[in-house]
Amino acid sequence: MAFRHEVLEKNAFLLLVAALVTVAIGGMVEIIPQFFIENTIEPVKGVRPYSPLELAGRNIYIREGCYLCHSQQIRALRDEVERYGHYSLAAESMYDHPFQWGSKRIGPDLARVGGKYSNDWHYAHLRNPQSVVPESLMPSYAFLEERPLDYAHIADDLITNRKVGVPYSDEDVKNAIADLEAQADPNADHTALLKRYPKAVIVPKNGQTISEMDALVAYLQMLGTLVDFKDVPEESLDR
Ligand code: HEC
Repeated sequence: MAFRHEVLEKNAFLLLVAALVTVAIGGMVEIIPQFFIENTIEPVKGVRPYSPLELAGRNIYIREGCYLCHSQQIRALRDEVERYGHYSLAAESMYDHPFQWGSKRIGPDLARVGGKYSNDWHYAHLRNPQSVVPESLMPSYAFLEERPLDYAHIADDLITNRKVGVPYSDEDVKNAIADLEAQADPNADHTALLKRYPKAVIVPKNGQTISEMDALVAYLQMLGTLVDFKDVPEESLDR
């Protein structure tokens, strides 16, 4: 055995080939099973794709770089769970393209901020954070209220997400604009919207047009609200 090994050690080319073969086997063992399992993320009840207004709000969140100060990932550590709520599940960001886990917390984690405050609080906070949290160093985003939301292409946004695996149906795509407008109008009929996107939070649009702030608040208000942890048996939680 030792003698045969010497052959390998004394022949650089043979050693290279043998090393490559060994690494290739290791690689195959890691990669091939990925093609045969349905999904690497265990689905969790309640998780659904974003409603068109939430998706538009999420685009504003990304455009404004909110992720530079806010994470959306509660780790399974006691202090985080006590402060922010149940640790984040992989399934909760399965429809995020790209995900918003973030890497910096200048402000608090936002993974479960939905429902923590009223819509009015969010509007006041985004207009002038110091009006509700005097010591806040978050900048003002008042201009978002002046900017009408451009949602002419929202259906295309749903289609793009569908291409990367988000299960929007043809029906969802067809109704994208109607759903978006209904979610920003407290007087509209919300039956179809809530059937397609349960727990969607209706935001009050101020004035005639839907603003970028309306979309952003709709997005913030749904973060972390989809999973009812009473439905999820502890042992099936995927950390
Ligand atoms: C310069 C860093 C910074 C940026 C950029 C920033 N924030 Fe904040 N944010 C903070 C800080 C600090 C706080 C904590 C004080 C407060 O509540 O205002 C905060 C708090 C919040 C809260 C309340 C969280 C809670 O649980 O009380 C929300 C919601 C929020 N930010 C949303 C946003 C959104 C949306 C954007 C992008 C439009 C954004 N932030 C951009 C720093 C930032």
